[in-house]
Amino acid sequence: MKWTVTGAAGMLGQDLVAALKARGDDVVALDVAELDILDSSAVMEALGTPGASDVVVNCAAWTQVDSAEEKEDAAFRLNAVGPQNLAAACRASGARLVQISTDYVFPGNGTKPYGEDDLLDPLGAYGRTKAAGEWAVRASGADYLIVRTAWLYGEHGTPFPKVMAKLLTERGHVDVVTDQVGQPTWTKDLVALIIALIDAQAPSGTYHGTSSGQGSWYEFTQEIAASMGVAKEAVGETTSEAFVRPAPRPAYSVLAHDALRKIGVEPIGDWRQRWQAAAPAILADFVAKD
Ligand SMILES: NC(=O)c1ccc[n+]([C@@H]2O[C@H](COP(=O)([O-])OP(=O)(O)OC[C@H]3O[C@@H](n4cnc5c(N)ncnc54)[C@H](OP(=O)(O)O)[C@@H]3O)[C@@H](O)[C@H]2O)c1
Repeated sequence: MKWTVTGAAGMLGQDLVAALKARGDDVVALDVAELDILDSSAVMEALGTPGASDVVVNCAAWTQVDSAEEKEDAAFRLNAVGPQNLAAACRASGARLVQISTDYVFPGNGTKPYGEDDLLDPLGAYGRTKAAGEWAVRASGADYLIVRTAWLYGEHGTPFPKVMAKLLTERGHVDVVTDQVGQPTWTKDLVALIIALIDAQAPSGTYHGTSSGQGSWYEFTQEIAASMGVAKEAVGETTSEAFVRPAPRPAYSVLAHDALRKIGVEPIGDWRQRWQAAAPAILADFVAKD
């Protein structure tokens, strides 16, 4: 199986490339220096020929939710036009395209987990640009899998658990919002799911690649503190109203996993259990070693 990973130097891309290499697959890892997904000619040249790749996984994205509000045009290019370029090349070559999307395509005012086919109605610029990317891929005629993830953390970059661990280490206390609920998801679990979908020859369509269960950022931080050996009392409660950020955040970001179950692919496990498995690697720099 020949894979190409775009945005390969990002948090998800690095773990995906490592996992594919570990299982002996042929993988071409490309970040912006090797292949700028905004350059449609370069994308077509690299990926548009039959046999160039069996699967293209697009891990490149504008992921800064707050800055997307002010730079929506640039975020749109990367999150919508980039995937459109990749989809055109995949259509030409016959490769499968895996486009990573987000819970932010939903409005976040629901009370039950969002289904794969629920109405897209993003709250802010980041979600709008990612939703546009989904539609570009769906409309392209390429063989695609859209995999929506959320609250993603991994060893690379500076994901939420590392930010919280740093604050707890430096300040001994952190207040965290209780009124935003979602599914913290480990990059390695998402990578395993992407590979499982390809191995299962999943039909073209939209799938949810998040942990099971649900929890607030406050509850997630309590788990992070516990993994660091820090008392849970070090984590205080706050609300979105008190902790205002430039981009609105969905209050309820829980995704259902029916499409996976329908094709016999097991969804990712409960977020608390998966955090227990991930914590030693994610918090390696923060947990006291004896
Ligand atoms: N992080 C989350 O919490 C989260 C939640 C839900 C969904 N997602 C989705 O998950 C996917 C992976 O996210 P991530 O956190 O791993 O992203 P990331 O760490 O920001 O990685 C994105 C990568 O894409 C590269 N890139 C930027 N512009 C490019 C271009 N024109 N052509 C090719 N590559 C380019 C970036 O390079 P530079 O660093 O040099 O710009 C970076 O290496 C994205 O689709 C994101 O929307 C993430």
